[in-house]
Amino acid sequence: MTAHVVTAEVGSADTGGAAAPFEPVIIGFTCNWCSYRAADLAGTSRMKYPPNIRLIRLMCSGRLDPTFVLKAFASGADGVMISGCHPGDCHYVDQNYKAMRRFRLLERTLAQFGVEPGRLRLTWASAGEGAIFAQEVTSFVEQVRALGPLGWPIAGAALPDGDGVDLELPEPADASEPPGAAGDAPTADPLPAIAGPLA
Ligand code: FES
Repeated sequence: MTAHVVTAEVGSADTGGAAAPFEPVIIGFTCNWCSYRAADLAGTSRMKYPPNIRLIRLMCSGRLDPTFVLKAFASGADGVMISGCHPGDCHYVDQNYKAMRRFRLLERTLAQFGVEPGRLRLTWASAGEGAIFAQEVTSFVEQVRALGPLGWPIAGAALPDGDGVDLELPEPADASEPPGAAGDAPTADPLPAIAGPLA
């Protein structure tokens, strides 16, 4: 299947000296089996939607680590859309229910950071719902455009690009050495609530 990745060209238009309208950068996390194929269908069917979204394909919405979303915002995204198979249709049984729980958790976490809830959206689109995917992207881009720039500082990291997820993840703990073996005081996991399994 041809990968369909829409990229945004922000601020590249020649506006003839007038201030360029704000064009939000949206990161879209899509599952491989439904939403990414819906995006592909929208592209091959020539359905129009704003080019502000950059898609990152995950095998399943349940693969979405909440830190991916935080990293996207920290890297300059103005909005993040998560899209997967409809509840009950996940190809990994019930992993999209985990995505739902993580979405709720992210809403609360982002609110603590002062991020408007309208900057995060969870949608469902099956492989045959290219039109729904295009509508969701269109309405989300309009919503985030109305909110304006998030204004978070760029953390020096490039936005994720292409098919893979190139977000930096924490190194796994060294399993060869038990916690505290070197006389270190036990340290708390900085993100225990969002980095751990939510099942
Ligand atoms: Fe699509 Fe799990 S495979 S949400």
